[in-house]
This record gives sequence, C-alpha cells and structure tokens, in this order.
Amino acid sequence: MIGEGAVGGASRHCAAASPIAANRIGRKILAMGPPCVRLSSIAAGLAFTLAAPQGSKPSCPLGNDGGAAGDPSLYCIDLVPVPDLPHVAGMAEMLPPETPFDVAVDPDGHLLHDLLVTASGLPDPATLGPYSSYVAWATTPLLDPVVRLGGVSNGRNSLGRVGFNKFLILVTAEASPPGERWKGKIVLRGNSPSALMQPHAIRMLPAQPMHGHARHASGWRPPLMHPGVPVMIPGLEALEPSVAPFEPGVGVDPATMPEARPQEKLDLRDGDTLALAAVPVRRTIAGRRVVMYGYNTQYPGPLIRVTEGATIVVEFTNRIDRPTSVHWHGVRLENASDGVPGVTQAPVPPGGRFRYRVHFRDAGLYWYHPHVRADAQQDLGLYGNLLVRSRRPDYFDPVDREVVLMLDDLLMDGDGLLPFGDEAPSHALMGRFGNAFLVNGAPDYRLSVRRGEVVRFFLTNASNARTYNLSLGDARLKLVGADGGLFERERWAESVVLAPAERYVVEARFERAGELAITNRVQAINHVEGAFFAEVDTLGRISVVDGPGASGRAARFERLRVNDDVVREMAHLRAWRDRPPDRTLLLTLRVRDLPFGLVQVLRLDSGFVNPVEWSGTMPMMDWLPTGRQVEWVLRDLATGRENMDIDWTFRRGEVVKLRLVNDRHTLHAMQHAMHVHGQRFVVLAKNGVPNDDLVWKDTVLVPAGATVDLLVELANPGRWMLHCHIAEHLEAGMHTVFTVN
Ligand code: C2O
Ligand code: CU
Repeated sequence: MIGEGAVGGASRHCAAASPIAANRIGRKILAMGPPCVRLSSIAAGLAFTLAAPQGSKPSCPLGNDGGAAGDPSLYCIDLVPVPDLPHVAGMAEMLPPETPFDVAVDPDGHLLHDLLVTASGLPDPATLGPYSSYVAWATTPLLDPVVRLGGVSNGRNSLGRVGFNKFLILVTAEASPPGERWKGKIVLRGNSPSALMQPHAIRMLPAQPMHGHARHASGWRPPLMHPGVPVMIPGLEALEPSVAPFEPGVGVDPATMPEARPQEKLDLRDGDTLALAAVPVRRTIAGRRVVMYGYNTQYPGPLIRVTEGATIVVEFTNRIDRPTSVHWHGVRLENASDGVPGVTQAPVPPGGRFRYRVHFRDAGLYWYHPHVRADAQQDLGLYGNLLVRSRRPDYFDPVDREVVLMLDDLLMDGDGLLPFGDEAPSHALMGRFGNAFLVNGAPDYRLSVRRGEVVRFFLTNASNARTYNLSLGDARLKLVGADGGLFERERWAESVVLAPAERYVVEARFERAGELAITNRVQAINHVEGAFFAEVDTLGRISVVDGPGASGRAARFERLRVNDDVVREMAHLRAWRDRPPDRTLLLTLRVRDLPFGLVQVLRLDSGFVNPVEWSGTMPMMDWLPTGRQVEWVLRDLATGRENMDIDWTFRRGEVVKLRLVNDRHTLHAMQHAMHVHGQRFVVLAKNGVPNDDLVWKDTVLVPAGATVDLLVELANPGRWMLHCHIAEHLEAGMHTVFTVN
C-alpha cells in the first residue's frame, strides 16, 4: 500500500509519534500541545517553500540561497538507498519545532528537530519480502536507543521529533505491526549533519603547561583550558592576540577605589531625576581581588522600577578610565537619548556628563548598558535592569514574590579577570565565554522561598556571548512574557533559552521543600574528539522551606492565560505573514591575517557547525582572533551594501518584513543575537516554520545556517542601530543603522 502526499502521511503518523513522546521528550510534548496538530500545521506552512514535484528524486537542495528554509547542510539529510534499490531516493528535513524560544531544546540542551521525510521510488514492500509497509527510525551512532518515527510512503511524510546530538535515520520495510526496533530490510539511510563531526587526526598537547600562569611579556595571560577539553592545538601555545591587553584600573591606587556593593532597588516616578555614574570598583569574586566597573558602585547597576508612561531624567557621569555611554536596551525612547556614540551622541569622555531623558512607553523588562566597547565595559559590570510596570492591575497574575535575575559569565584565571583587548576586542570570532557564572553580579546566588509560594522571575541575559538553557531544578515554569510584553498564550516550559540581551518572564510554584539548583544545561562540543558532551553549570540555589505562607495560589498558577488584548494586537500583524520579505540581511564573516594554524583548525571544524555554540570549549582558539582580524558582516542582499553603508530609510508607521539569513559557509559560522534599537518586532517564522505564539521582542537569536523572519514595527522616528548583541561581534563591525522618518 503506497500512498502519495503529505496529508495521509501526517494523519496516519499521529499515533506513531506518541512512543517518541514517551521515550525521549514526553514532558516537552505535553508542554507544547498535541503533536498531531503541530505536525499538520508545520506541513501546511512548508508547502509554500519546499514543494517538490511529485515523482522527482528528492534530495537536499544545495547552498544558501536566502530563502525561508535554513541551510540544507545543517537542516537536511540526504537519504541514500541500499545498492539493490538504486531507484529509491529520499531526504529528511530537520524542522524547528514550534517553541516560544528562538531554538527548541530539551532540558538537557539537546536540540530538537521535527522530521519530515520525502521519499520516491519505493516499490510495493511485498515485492521485497514478507513486508507490508515502510517505517522510519532514528537512532544514535551506537544504535541505542531506537525511536520509531512512523510510516513512510512515496511523497512527504511528517514524522516525529528527535532530540539526539548525533543520529542516523533509517527507512526499513516491515511486517505489520512494526516492533520497537527494525527487523525488516533497510532501504534508505542517512546521517544527521552533526554525525559528520569526527575526531581530529592531529596530535594535541595536554593542557598541563597552560595551567601554570604563563604570563607573556606583553601582559597577556593565556586562558585556562575548558575542564571538559583539557588539550590544545600544537602551534598555538606561544601565540597571543594581536592587540595590547587592557585591564581596568591599572595605575590607579586601589585604596581610592570603592568596594562594590549589591544592587539597590529604586522606585522612580514620572519626572524623577536619577544621578548615575560609571565608576571603577573593587570586588572579590571566587576568592580573587579584581577591579571592575559599576553603576553607582553597585553590582548590577540599580534596578530601576517605573510605571509605563513615565519619563525620568538620568544625569550620567563618566568616572571610568574610558569613554562610555548608556544605552536603554529595548526602550522605545526619544532617539537623542538612545546612547549610541557616532549615531545619537558623542561618547562621554572620562570625567564627562550626559543627560538622558528616558521615556517608558511600554511595560516590560528592559536593561541598560554602555554602547562603547561593550565587550569590556558591559562584562566589567556596567549593566542594570529596568522593570516597567503596566498601569493595568491585572497585567500579571498575583504572585507571592517577584525576583529579578541578571545572568552573566566572567572569564577568570588564578590571577583574576583575563585582560581585554585594548585597541580592539580579543575573542572576536566566538565571543568571550566566561568560566565563572554570576547571578545579579555575584557567584553562588541564593534564594529562599516558602513551600507553596508562586514566584515570578524576571530573567535577563547580560553575557557577552553565552546563550543559556536555564532550569530551576525540576520546577515547572509558566512562560508569561518576553522582552517587551506578554505572550498571546501562556504555556509551560521546563527550561528557558536566553540569548545575549534577551529577557523572559516566568512563574514557578515550589511544591516540595528542599533545595533546587539553578542550572545551565547544554550540549557542548569537544572539537578534538568530534563529540558532544553534557555541560551542567550551577548558577545558584533555591531553598524551599516548610512553614506558613502557602498562599493558596495553586489553582490560579495551574491556569494558563490567553491574553486577548495581545491576540488582538497580533492579529493585524499576522496579515503580513505571507508577503515576501521587504529586506534580507545575510549575516556573514570576513577574516584576515589570522594565524595559519588557527585557520587550518577552523577549516577542519567546518564540516559541521553547531547551530548554537553553547560553550567556549577551546578557550585558546577563542581568545586569539581580534577585532582587527575579524569582521562580522551584515550584508543587504538587495544592494550588496554592508554594515554601516546599508543605511535604510523607512516611513514612520511602516511594518517591514525583515529576513535574517545566517551564512553557514564561512570560516566560523555562529549564531547571532540580533537586536533592533528603538522599535519592536515579532518573530514570524524560523526556517520557514511559522511561529504561533507571538510576543513583542527586540532581540532574537539566529542559529548558524538558519533563516528567521521578523515583522518590525517602525513607530519611533530617528536614526537607530541594528546589530548583533554578542558583544565582540558588535565591536567587530556587525552593526548597521536605519532611519525612520
Ligand atoms: Cu543592548 Cu545596541 O544594545
Ligand atoms: Cu553575532
């Protein structure tokens, strides 16, 4: 029985998808709604972009054409027939599952993919033996576990979801009903793109020499190895970045520097004035004395709480040793106060002042940080949150407590903070991944709550480069809002994926007494071994204590809210969904004068790139490339113009469909956290798969090789920046400006 077409396939495989749910990611699927609905809507969405003529041999399309779908070399698998069935052909598309985050991962950080297999030339299975159908399977390179994906016939078949790092797909002829593993004849097989990653054949040096504090005459200290990859590439050990090292406060008498203190919470009202100063501070982190920066000597800077509609005046003074500025990230304020040197103001020199008028038009969670050498200044502690309350009392559900958390990571060794690049950033390719985790500016964050309490967490990722997959023990998280507003529909999540500069609002109810770890759980890559490994970092702990205080909010917490006003607001935006993109930006890379050995290793590693680089596992390689050697590029595909030469102009009130295509075919493809100043957008689709729960955002992560479609509402006049928020990418050229008249 050989059917044609996707519709029969999709409905027939609904039941077959359930065993996967149970085996691998059952809780995730429960959290995301019925798989049958999801799969058929994905199939419908793809019909526009991927329709292949029936009867032709399906194979992954070549190259990176700026289309809606992601790069086939990362999101498609050619299925190869066995030699005695040369007329059979197939391909498997790895589609991004619908998710409120920019990438779908399970709580351990495995990337999830919904598989869609297109096959042709399959003969009647009975002609091959005692078989009645074809079945697709996914398994790891060790053939354990095996997941039955569902039945396959000629045409398109929506199958189940997989969450393996490396996997194989097999299509076999089976008797019915099929078992838990394949027993019949294999007809097609293929490897996931990640399975192409194999161990290096070059010899590595053990990490040992690096653990002494080798200090170069220049003042640079090579970074420590990642504990999961304690080797390095021969030939790199004597190199150092091609710029001078910069450490804050060198030459300043530490006795004159204030000791930093924890963040203050400020409730400001319309018309209030805040004096804000960037100052050098002393700190002790992980037992090491360091000099950092702080706003008003605090870590993080003051938490500023206001009500929407308020305008505050910030009298800013620069007391650090470098020019700086303050940018109010995500706030749709007057252009002159946006804080971008070269675009809206001159940098504030050491000793200088600047007056910002910050108008808070929208409720939401925002933050502030410098827009000068963010790779160093933000990392050194210049950041703080802005919590803008709605005037509507029912904007949020009542909770027992609200907690604001800023996540960050610092790169340290036994002597303190690794120096930064002086004339240009170090770490310009990968970004500076830290090895010490900070929550609200300090390690070992602690929170104590009473059992039964419902807590609302406001989360911001202030890291230079790291994307988090954050869990609070096994607490079920209710996802409420993101950057600039509430989701259309609340939903459950087990972990929160936050790219640099992104924010999420989640609620949790702590039902059992005990201690929960706040963890970042990701799948990192050991490039030397060509293997993934689980990296789990504990950022802090939540103690749930017994006692009075269970607030009786359990029933309310269990209810997922639909925000009708957001649904109405988004309905008119959806009308733009199917029009072609108005603008397309290719996110790409140019390098020059990189050390030869480094280039060779990067080439060796380019057979596969992780769509999201979750960890800095090769610190020495990450450290060396500087902003003088690396130029990250935004290229307007219509005009060929790049970065600051793009200079788009829009009319106020326009809604623009912006397509971001992340070029996978560069020396080092990597995700980019794209941020639009002064405006807001919704994420319409990822790799051609529509998003079905919209929220106002200002930052979105575009995985390597992926295509993301945004609808940007251009409502705020002025000259605004659009850039990658990986601080080193921003400082290595990855920014442009546009004007709204
Ligand atoms: Cu937080 Cu220009 O960005
Ligand atoms: Cu980037």
